Amino acid sequence: MSSWEPITWRGDHLRLLDQRRLPTEETDVLCRDASETATAITDMVVRGAPAIGVTAAYGLVLAAKTRAAEGGDGAALRERLQPDRRELLDSRPTAVNLRWALDRLDLILEERAADSASEAAAALESAAVALHEDDIAANRAIGRHGATVVPDEARLLTHCNAGALATAGYGTALGVVRGAVEAGKKVAVLADETRPFLQGARLTAWELMKDDIPVTVIADVAAASLMRAGEVDLVVVGADRIAANGDVANKVGTYPVAVLAREHGIPFYVAAPLSTIDPTMPDGDGIPIEERGPEEVRECFGVPVTPEGAAVRNPAFDVTPSALVKAIITDVGILEPPFTESIARAFADGD
Ligand code: MRU
Repeated sequence: MSSWEPITWRGDHLRLLDQRRLPTEETDVLCRDASETATAITDMVVRGAPAIGVTAAYGLVLAAKTRAAEGGDGAALRERLQPDRRELLDSRPTAVNLRWALDRLDLILEERAADSASEAAAALESAAVALHEDDIAANRAIGRHGATVVPDEARLLTHCNAGALATAGYGTALGVVRGAVEAGKKVAVLADETRPFLQGARLTAWELMKDDIPVTVIADVAAASLMRAGEVDLVVVGADRIAANGDVANKVGTYPVAVLAREHGIPFYVAAPLSTIDPTMPDGDGIPIEERGPEEVRECFGVPVTPEGAAVRNPAFDVTPSALVKAIITDVGILEPPFTESIARAFADGD
């Protein structure tokens, strides 16, 4: 559907659409090494779990291309890349796709230990390009599966931005929207504005309007009364990390939406690829929750909205207990409760 790209690999550098400037400016940031890539992730030039996974993979490729020139074999290259890998891993803590993508590349380096460093770097580049393409394919599969749970005429509420901007393309929660539209359904989206970073107001509205999909932005606090008035048929959100029991870490404000959906008898779905599920994390309590800088809460576009020096907290994510989740829409199908079993089965089938 969309003609714009959130992430473009150009062989010697990575081009990212600067999401901090949307919707008023469509500008790019170019990353030429792992450090610039890690900074782009930390600073939210690029954000969204699958998107930062793909971006980190290209960041490691940029480092590999430079460090391969020092010679030696793939094993030596792997060793030399450790500081770059660490810097990329540390760029944001909650989304597990970051670790997942870097682990996949590490496996390639392990396999290529006896090859020359330049051959290993070339294999790494092919693997990163494949990750990028696979993520788009996974999102399209999520869209096809998700379309089956969307009524023919649906008012769908979403939180944050789990769209093409947050992935390699097409989106997860917004992939479900796109899949339903492609299946001929009439979908109108209610987008929570998503304080404090406004991913819903700025990004979800921007990309849905580009695709001519009806979208209405609401203040986060308006969701309750609209649900009570019968104006929401279903909720679909993305995820940054899903624990083995189905607990879901996603953008802060997702948990209250899930509680509200339960109170009003509205189905609450989570859309995410298997790469967002962390089978090593037994439940949501252990998921690291990023605390971002206080200025995001103290200011709105540089304008102070609290008294100077006011104490603030800025947890960027929250955890929705799996009991509030109707189903998890993945690239391999729709997982239903009990999630401990359906998630384990999905991983076993993929092996
Ligand atoms: O802080 P962000 O903007 O990176 O948070 C993004 C989200 O919470 C998304 O919902 C999640 O990563 C899923 S993206 C397909």
